[in-house]
Amino acid sequence: MKLNTILTGVAASALMSTAAFADVTIGFSQVGSEGDWRPAFSKNMQDEAATYGVDLKFANAQGKQEEQLRAVRAFVAQGVDAIIIAPVVVTGWEDVLEEAKDAEIPVFLVDRDVDVEDKSLYVSRISADFNLEGKIAGAWLATESLGSCKIVEMQGTTGSAPAIERKGGFEAVIDQFPAMEIVATQSGDFTTEGGKKVMEAFIKSTNNLDGICAAFAHNDNMQLGAIQAMKEAGLKPGEDVLMVSVDYVPAIVDAMNAGEANASVELRSAVAEFIYPVITDYLDSPTDLPKWIVIPSDLHVAN
Ligand code: AHR
Repeated sequence: MKLNTILTGVAASALMSTAAFADVTIGFSQVGSEGDWRPAFSKNMQDEAATYGVDLKFANAQGKQEEQLRAVRAFVAQGVDAIIIAPVVVTGWEDVLEEAKDAEIPVFLVDRDVDVEDKSLYVSRISADFNLEGKIAGAWLATESLGSCKIVEMQGTTGSAPAIERKGGFEAVIDQFPAMEIVATQSGDFTTEGGKKVMEAFIKSTNNLDGICAAFAHNDNMQLGAIQAMKEAGLKPGEDVLMVSVDYVPAIVDAMNAGEANASVELRSAVAEFIYPVITDYLDSPTDLPKWIVIPSDLHVAN
């Protein structure tokens, strides 16, 4: 089954323009450099900044929210024109967002979401729809397994938007099928090592994945670790167990070509072209933007 590009909400492309290449300074607080997708996203944002007249101040939080809070406060103190945050987790943002608002510095969320009651604390979130990605993975698996499947799940970082939303979307689909069930679930923190450890534990607790039909990982790197663990246990990932994950990084494409992974939902990493024009246009002429500008996600299936 091939699900083509699905757009929800306001399509990002509809908001892109070629105007307003102002010279602006933007601070970007990035989650960290876990996995393969995140560094590719950081590189794209850094490489493309000059094209959009942006002087980018880049801060890598190494997966720590306290580092992000420190970085955002430093950007406020520097008086940057705008702040971009890819938040590690959804909670704990109110105070620092208030501080940016008091300083009249517009904040844009990219990639991950925050859970704040007062949505006026940020201008807009420009990102993929993680819940939809979970739904796409679940729909693919429901089709492949004819609605009957015991699943092991590797969750992303606890409390992060992609872990919460991908799980929610996936469950919303499989809950429609009485014979589909997640029998074991654990966080692998979005890393290859984490995914390997979690799969090793699943292999033990399920007597070598006996009766397990699929592994759903919230990102490809955890799935790549799971593939290693399964091979070390003498199992054949992609054959004995259906393997579905999210990101579509080059290493999972290799695994798909080798028959060791079956499907991956693409989370685009080259998204500077969706993000910078929205911000520079806004700085040029502030206007009400949709609270969420959605970047499409596509399903890729091994041949
Ligand atoms: O927030 C997006 C997720 O974060 C990506 O799917 C994952 O690879 C990264 O760590």
